Amino acid sequence: MLNNLTTQYPDPIMQLITLCREDTRDTKIDLGVGVYKDGAGQTPVMHAVRAASKKVWDNETTKVYTGLSGDPEFGQAMRKLVLADSVDAERVGVIATPGGTGAIRQAFELARLANPDLTVWTSNPTWPNHLAILKFMGIPNTEYAYFDEVSCNVDFDAMMGSLKGVQAGDMVLLHGCCHNPTGANLTLEQFGLVADLIADKGALALVDIAYQGFGDGLEEDAAPTRLLASKLPEMLVAASCSKNFGVYRERTGCLMAISEDASMTAKTQANMNYLNRVAFSFPPDHGARLVTTVLTDETLTAQWKTELEEVRLSMLGLRTQLSDELRQRTNSDRFDFIAQHRGMFSRIGATPEEVMKMREDFAIYMVSDSRMNIAGLKPSTVPFLAEAIAKSCK
Ligand code: LMR
Repeated sequence: MLNNLTTQYPDPIMQLITLCREDTRDTKIDLGVGVYKDGAGQTPVMHAVRAASKKVWDNETTKVYTGLSGDPEFGQAMRKLVLADSVDAERVGVIATPGGTGAIRQAFELARLANPDLTVWTSNPTWPNHLAILKFMGIPNTEYAYFDEVSCNVDFDAMMGSLKGVQAGDMVLLHGCCHNPTGANLTLEQFGLVADLIADKGALALVDIAYQGFGDGLEEDAAPTRLLASKLPEMLVAASCSKNFGVYRERTGCLMAISEDASMTAKTQANMNYLNRVAFSFPPDHGARLVTTVLTDETLTAQWKTELEEVRLSMLGLRTQLSDELRQRTNSDRFDFIAQHRGMFSRIGATPEEVMKMREDFAIYMVSDSRMNIAGLKPSTVPFLAEAIAKSCK
């Protein structure tokens, strides 16, 4: 029977990991998958997370199952981190999930349980796995305009124009901060207008927040999600801890569901628990426990915030350096948007051929849509990249 399977090709981000690994040129620069690297090119375990790990090791007395929703303390800690007091805690149901991807999958499953005729609206472009999961699940997908390829910024008028087509019962997927793949983000005011439109249409917002703390700061990056939560009667939030806690391989994240009023929360929560049960029973706990330990210990929280801020500032520094280098080399302000973008990624507006030229001539690996992971750079490699971009992009 397995003979009947057709070939599955890895998505462009996964493909790039292999291609870059196989390149033997020692000057190669990996700007592919969204993983933070420090100045030494390492993806370190954060000190606060290492300390939490020791604490868990010393104090954990059992590995017995948690609950279908995961450890409730994790759910509370994540609700506070992401939503703060923007919404009454009684209205929020939470399940722990295997990473942010698990949360996205469960969000689509939950919305489809509520509306079997679900259509999901995604930004053009969006993270390729959003589209792959929707396709796999057979959920219709409509794209809304988002990115202006010429200015490399958000085309907000076009976005609002296409969102006019949203119907009651549709889902609108928004990136809470640090848009992936473009790096171009809405202002808080624009998020407010999108919230009003979603409310008017009777649609359900799903906020994917995978980079809180990587853009303008921990609180600033959560502000759009909190604004939406305060304005909308119902909302889903898929949060990832992979990047901001550096716990990529632990698969740590959660789905939060805000119900219209507190009396609905138990039913929503029971549906979420059910979805975990039929997918994998109990969600992974180790990473969630590390995150909870950091977020419930004042000293560890302070240490984590300091480390996260260092990561954020190092990416901002690389952005400024790269856009300055490109200004000098191209004698223009064409790439100034790189300094204005936020988060790990910038889509720089190069054609697939130009991206390929940079790969072949300079061993620079970015996704073929010209998304590059800023955190894959070091101050010492920025001039080389700037040279490659200036020489390869028309
Ligand atoms: C990315 O976009 O590179 C990350 O979110 C990692 C992934 O799973 O694709």
